[in-house]
Amino acid sequence: MASCFILFRLLFLLLFLSGSVVPIYSGGVGINYGQIANNLPSPSRVALLLESLNITRVKLYDADPNVLLAFSNSNVDFIVGLGNEYLQNMTDPIKAQNWIQQHLQTHLPQTKVTCITVGNEVFNSNDTQLMSYLLPAMQTVYHALVNLGLDKQVTVTSAHSLNILANSYPPSSGSFRQDLAEYIQPLLNFHSQINSPFLINAYPYFAYKYNPSEVSLDYVLFQPNQGLTDPNTNLKYDNMLYAQIDAVYSAIKAMGHTDIEVRVSETGWPSKGDTDEAGATPQNAGLYNGNLLQRIQEKQGTPAKPSVPVDVYVFALFNEDLKPGPTSERNYGLFYPDGTPVYNIGLQGYLPELTYSSASKINVLSVLSVVIYVMVGLTCA
Ligand SMILES: *[C@@H]1O[C@H](CO)[C@@H](O)[C@H](O)[C@H]1NC(C)=O
Ligand SMILES: *[C@@H]1O[C@H](CO)[C@@H](O)[C@H](O)[C@H]1NC(C)=O
Ligand SMILES: *[C@@H]1O[C@H](CO)[C@@H](O)[C@H](O)[C@H]1NC(C)=O
Repeated sequence: MASCFILFRLLFLLLFLSGSVVPIYSGGVGINYGQIANNLPSPSRVALLLESLNITRVKLYDADPNVLLAFSNSNVDFIVGLGNEYLQNMTDPIKAQNWIQQHLQTHLPQTKVTCITVGNEVFNSNDTQLMSYLLPAMQTVYHALVNLGLDKQVTVTSAHSLNILANSYPPSSGSFRQDLAEYIQPLLNFHSQINSPFLINAYPYFAYKYNPSEVSLDYVLFQPNQGLTDPNTNLKYDNMLYAQIDAVYSAIKAMGHTDIEVRVSETGWPSKGDTDEAGATPQNAGLYNGNLLQRIQEKQGTPAKPSVPVDVYVFALFNEDLKPGPTSERNYGLFYPDGTPVYNIGLQGYLPELTYSSASKINVLSVLSVVIYVMVGLTCA
């Protein structure tokens, strides 16, 4: 079996080199590569899968050296993560600089890392000490990047849960929770100062799950629907994700900033859930992610920011079998660990299609690939 795998990998590489693999257009979507699982393919196989999918933007929750190494000399652009457990140490300039040198600089420039998220959903933690470390940690990491001459190529930000909003509808009335204002105001000032985006993890799925009788499924799934009109702006919303993004823009504006871009560091829909998790089906997940991909390809902006294409990292690349919590948590993946799609939205990785430009220009590598393919077929049958 192992030798079959190596042969298939070689075959794919040859097909790719020969230009016979035609990547499916995935138009600039990013993907979260979570690894809370014990059955995922190796990072080098994942690199081939993503190459075959033409996905070139990946977000990690850590700075896994195996992943960063496997993607060296690829055209994939990474966001790496500093977990919440690092925040306290990152307020120390020496430790911050050491971390960047050890975990980031060793991989540059072979692997493209363009962003560090410092902490994930810190304001969802209920831990005010952790909250108080966030901005100092971001500032210290930023200054370490400046010292190392990396601040122009690597930006510093953090990712937030939408629970930081006190109000999200209508979008023009979006506001942050009052108890978080003391943290968020200086945080926004810093984003503005270093020109870095504000990231949110936005899941219309949760709104539907907790209120399936009130929330329109078509509205959350980007399906045709009547939409909702914001009474203050008269802007019409045909989906909840865009309303959530604009609510965050409004909340930021209410704190005096119109110069900070909002991006979506996570969004997605589970293909499976417990009996009390309404809507978690492969059909709905396929509609959500498929429709979202389409809109990203069209470079759509939100009603309040029509000229700023929504910037999204889908959650997630794989189903992650070791994630705790309800069944849905382990079923957000677009792919099973064996690389097959969980549902069909046209993202078929690893299925090379042979194309010959003309009979007289048959590519030697393609022919070789076909020969190997037949050999593999015979050996592995
Ligand atoms: C691959 O993606 C890039 C940008 O994401 C796009 O410009 C390019 O056309 C895509 N290639 C194919 C073959 O779909
Ligand atoms: C924080 O720093 C201390 C002292 O150097 C070290 O023992 C600890 O492992 C660090 N914590 C993390 C999460 O790296
Ligand atoms: C912590 O969170 C829980 C809900 O998760 C909430 O009921 C509780 O009031 C919070 N505690 C504090 C100290 O904020």
